[in-house]
Amino acid sequence: MLIQPTEKNDDNDDIVQWVRNGIAVRVFGEAADASNSVAAEIASLIRQRADDGEQCILGLATGSTPVRVYRELIRLHREENLSMKNVVTFNLDEYFPMKPNAAQSYVRFMNEQLFDHVDISPDNIHIPDGTVTPDRVTEYCQQYEDAIDTAGGIDLQLLGIGRTGHVGFNEPGSEQASTTRLVRLCEITRTDAAKDFGGLEKTPQLAITMGVGTILRSRRIRLLAFGEHKSAIVERSVQGAISDSVPATYLHDHGNVEFVLDSAAASKLNPSTADVSH
Ligand code: GLP
Repeated sequence: MLIQPTEKNDDNDDIVQWVRNGIAVRVFGEAADASNSVAAEIASLIRQRADDGEQCILGLATGSTPVRVYRELIRLHREENLSMKNVVTFNLDEYFPMKPNAAQSYVRFMNEQLFDHVDISPDNIHIPDGTVTPDRVTEYCQQYEDAIDTAGGIDLQLLGIGRTGHVGFNEPGSEQASTTRLVRLCEITRTDAAKDFGGLEKTPQLAITMGVGTILRSRRIRLLAFGEHKSAIVERSVQGAISDSVPATYLHDHGNVEFVLDSAAASKLNPSTADVSH
């Protein structure tokens, strides 16, 4: 059987799922349902760890895609008693240079979209520091890696995907074993970000990002993509061969990766080519 039986969500909608190149693909009719499903998985992990008296280590992403996941986590906190006191977070990336209070900073984004609205301890939040001086960046990036390891490694890493196939800011050409480092952004990525910066010329050239290898060390990886404009890169990421020209293909065969999609983002995928072994 190539495609696993569909399951129903709370609204009785079909969720279609299959596995290709080791990636579990889950397709929801609507982005909201997909987001709620991922938020429910995160909440369940947080609660399970709390019951065991342990911390839950989350890798978090920015961009428009995960916003609804964060909104649902806030709702679960307010209405269903979800505490994030035992949560430790590591964000994927930050523009460089970037002041934390700047309108485009990922520090500000995360505060506004999640942290200001839940009971996470500020000491447990880690976001790459866009104010580090250039001569200290390499040392700083190693410290970020060490902090992840010291925390016990990431339990669940949330990812979006850029049109270049980047995860975090690991652009084409990134190596599979890459770790947290300073990177140069592609023109496509800068063009997509330009609206936030008031023009391409004001958009940063550089960023600090967790590496592909950092991401692959996470125990679970959930990549979200919504909308027709993501369908081409989703198709290349899931069905293409592993290649540094599409860094998301490095996620093949990690063992616990799900691409959580709406039907528009999944529209170019071909479920009939699913892995026969699953
Ligand atoms: C930026 C972020 C990525 C994100 C991507 C897609 O490049 N650094 O982590 O996945 O944008 O953004 P969006 O979710 O808005 O499409």
